Amino acid sequence: MLGRLFQKKSYQAYVDEMKGENRLRRVLGPISLASLGIGSTIGTGIFVLTGLAVHDKAGPALIVSYMLSGLACVFAALSYAEFASMVPVAGSTYTYAYATLGELFAWIIGWDLVLEYAMAGATVANGWSQYFKSFLSTFGVQLPAALTMAPFDYDPGVGHIISTGAVMDLPAILITVLITWLLVIGIRESAGANNIMVGIKVAVILLVIGVGAFFIKTANWHPFAPFGWTGISLFGKTLFGQTGVGGEPLGMMAGASIVFFSYIGFESVSTHAEEARNPQKDVPIGLIASLIVCTVLYIGVAVVLTGMIPASKMNLEAPVADAFKQIGMPWMQFIVSVAAMAGITSVLLVTILSQARILLAIARDGLLPTRFFGSVHPKYRTPWKATIATGIFVGIFAAFVPLRILAELVNIGTLLAFVIVCVSVLIMRRTHPEVKRPFRCPGMPYTPILGAIFCAVLMFSLPAENWLRLLVWLLIGLGIYFFYGRRHGKVWEQEPSAGSKT
Ligand code: ALA
Repeated sequence: MLGRLFQKKSYQAYVDEMKGENRLRRVLGPISLASLGIGSTIGTGIFVLTGLAVHDKAGPALIVSYMLSGLACVFAALSYAEFASMVPVAGSTYTYAYATLGELFAWIIGWDLVLEYAMAGATVANGWSQYFKSFLSTFGVQLPAALTMAPFDYDPGVGHIISTGAVMDLPAILITVLITWLLVIGIRESAGANNIMVGIKVAVILLVIGVGAFFIKTANWHPFAPFGWTGISLFGKTLFGQTGVGGEPLGMMAGASIVFFSYIGFESVSTHAEEARNPQKDVPIGLIASLIVCTVLYIGVAVVLTGMIPASKMNLEAPVADAFKQIGMPWMQFIVSVAAMAGITSVLLVTILSQARILLAIARDGLLPTRFFGSVHPKYRTPWKATIATGIFVGIFAAFVPLRILAELVNIGTLLAFVIVCVSVLIMRRTHPEVKRPFRCPGMPYTPILGAIFCAVLMFSLPAENWLRLLVWLLIGLGIYFFYGRRHGKVWEQEPSAGSKT
């Protein structure tokens, strides 16, 4: 029964489903949309991963890494916007894929999104913990190391995993429990609260750039690219650039592949299409504007940090706050730590919220147990079981797996989702030219082709073992689909062409 793997969920089915729910009000303009994108994007990536990327992967050339990663996201975002506009309901890539590519692909993307969101949640919680420690240290309080770290870590110096002697990252668990609880009882970040959070994040980043600029020593930029300008490998075999002790690629590209994490989240703009005043115009503007703002801020921070502190002295845990500690400005360390904690918390909130909604959408289609993941709390009206399940998953990974490993896994999963979206947009133009596209990706076919190539190259710049982890993850997903989803998934009545009624 091969046909069922490719059965699509029709546009009418989405419309029927929406009837039962309250329609969202069309209140968001381009600025609010861009602000939502920025709010769910600026977090652990810029505040934490920058240190690791400068220290171990790229040196000051990380400035260029941020440009390159941002460019890859722009190409992917334009393709994303076209894909989103073809299925005019709120949702995520999972929803779009179900309407356009069929059940099996939708499941693969949905499963990949679990890797993206739930693992990203764990990474973000882990990053929060680093700034919590930095915050306490400004009062001279040190938490026991055994309770603030994962029990193992990858040591680039020796090239393999080592035991850290720690038990778990307790602050990461605590923040995850708190956010999960807030989401269960129905706290949703409103556009107003998001604007405040974005204001804090952007203001502090501008402060970092403005104050830090006075402490730049150009000598710190020499050598600019100590690990070279590339860093691309093919399943463990280095094609271009230097290789670390553990065989992982090093260089500017390798740096780009890790800081790609900083950009994840901008695509959430497209999930607000239903609330946008003029989705055809405003969603793409919101996507691109939030990406441009983040890219400019990230490049600014990278310039200032690498100018302030030699790459070899870059802190790996809370590098932005620590840079000010190193130059003797504890008040800046304090401000940055507080703002980073607040900013990262809002990213964690959006991440767990989105994951629970995606699980709910998948469960409603029958591909996951509906009674569990589809259950809505009678009082709070939230998908509470899906939220708690996500919280447990996030908490466990945040507590026991180190940041670097989590971030790399999230990146490879998200990059794969972006490649699939870029390729799908190209395929859909050929196979379904008749479907109305309120937003058409400009520069066809080059934009999606470039998006797919850039994202694929970034995937090859990640340490090779991530491919294996991704493969294992996808195989587990396929196993679940063939044992559960294929048997329980709903059978949809087919329309001549999904989405053609838009
Ligand atoms: N881009 C988000 C962050 O950096 C996931 O925390």
